[in-house]
Amino acid sequence: MYDFGLVGLGVMGRNFILNVADNGFTAYGYDLDKEKVNSLKDEGGDLEKVDASTNIKTFVKSLKQPRKIMLLVPAGKIVDSVIESLLPYIDKGDIIIDGGNSFFTDTDRRESELQNRAINFFGAGVSGGAKGARRGPSIMPGGSKSAYEHIKPIFEAVAAKYEGEPCVAYLGPKSAGNYVKMVHNGIEYGLMQLTSEIYDILKKGGDYTNDELHSTFAKWNSGRLQSFLVEITSEIFEQKDDLTDGRLVDQILDKAKQKGTGKWTSQNAMDLGIPVPSIDVAVSMRELSALKDERVKADALYGRPKVAHMDKEKLAELSEKALYFSFIITYAQGLHQLADASKEYGYKLDISVIAKIWRAGCIIRAGLLADITEAFKADASLPNLLLSPNFVNKVEETVGAARELVAFGAINGIPLPGLSNSLIYFDAYTSSRLPLNLIQAQRDYFGSHTYERLDKEGIFHTEWDE
Ligand code: 6PG
Repeated sequence: MYDFGLVGLGVMGRNFILNVADNGFTAYGYDLDKEKVNSLKDEGGDLEKVDASTNIKTFVKSLKQPRKIMLLVPAGKIVDSVIESLLPYIDKGDIIIDGGNSFFTDTDRRESELQNRAINFFGAGVSGGAKGARRGPSIMPGGSKSAYEHIKPIFEAVAAKYEGEPCVAYLGPKSAGNYVKMVHNGIEYGLMQLTSEIYDILKKGGDYTNDELHSTFAKWNSGRLQSFLVEITSEIFEQKDDLTDGRLVDQILDKAKQKGTGKWTSQNAMDLGIPVPSIDVAVSMRELSALKDERVKADALYGRPKVAHMDKEKLAELSEKALYFSFIITYAQGLHQLADASKEYGYKLDISVIAKIWRAGCIIRAGLLADITEAFKADASLPNLLLSPNFVNKVEETVGAARELVAFGAINGIPLPGLSNSLIYFDAYTSSRLPLNLIQAQRDYFGSHTYERLDKEGIFHTEWDE
């Protein structure tokens, strides 16, 4: 009998199951594709440790009870059909874990349907890509707390470690895990957009070569910007192209694809009424990038300013600060959304625990997350990172550079929407008085929508045009 079952032996599934086996647990895989089953058996080596089958009954009956069955299959209908096919064979008390990027309301629906049959269901976001699945991902599980005790030892063993601590923790009931992973991805979109803008400005404003970009990002990665995304960005600039004499990055079509998790983050933030403009614009930029043909036509129609040259070192210094500033703002927005969603959906999230399990393994892992963890440990009810005394100096020291770069981009026709939106968010969030009093006046003027006053309690209406 095997400790752990895994459905879906694609790259992620195969890597995850081998990781489980490396950590002292026995594991059994299931896939309809015979080739995938055979290649797992070959790679696993010892069938007593890792085995697999194309037969679902054999698969289920090979697992110890309560069975722990993880699904690593594409989000959507496939998850429902895999659950359907497991149901005739599994027993009360068994645990199904969806490790994909499922939409959180789907997880809630599945959890309540399975609860009626006394089956435990977990939505557990897994981050870190194929390498992470093999060597240690960050795992974000949500579901029944008591059932988590059965999967905890396995997840803690396979997860990435940060200073010895596993990057996994029980996050909350129902879809808490999927929701946290969705916002992780929204932040990921934001950080990626910001990195691409800094690349653009270094290249256009400072004539940085790929080698210089490589060394600049590498240097940043050994400082306060240390993060997985900055690290891989530095490596990307070095990659030679097989088909030309140049670098691969220069040959890649500038149309960014997306699978939807960033968009869901933005959409749900709108539903909650929480502003996440650095994430919103990252989604919009992927959409704008897809309009390549129209962009090419428009480029021919309009002139653009000749880009002024900025001193290379000065530009690097401003860029490092602006990137650090806007990374902080992007995490602040995502975590603000999580804090609000926690109240709205009853997740009871502990933001310091989330920041803690993002410190290693996941795509948005960054040195900054250690500071974020401390900020939320010091004040668990912190509504926004910008209100943490620990962050005031970090932001004050870098916001000026963001202003200079955003202005440089605006004057020189270099689009910096992520940086601009981060700066706008900061300026608006830190303004005790915004001009939205005028909007209230306009609403009341044309629609009698009423307004409140600064100096008096109550709801007021004025007949403006009398
Ligand atoms: C992760 C990633 C992963 C996501 C990819 C692609 O945490 O490992 O977030 O889950 O699927 O990053 O996402 P897009 O195709 O939407 O860019």
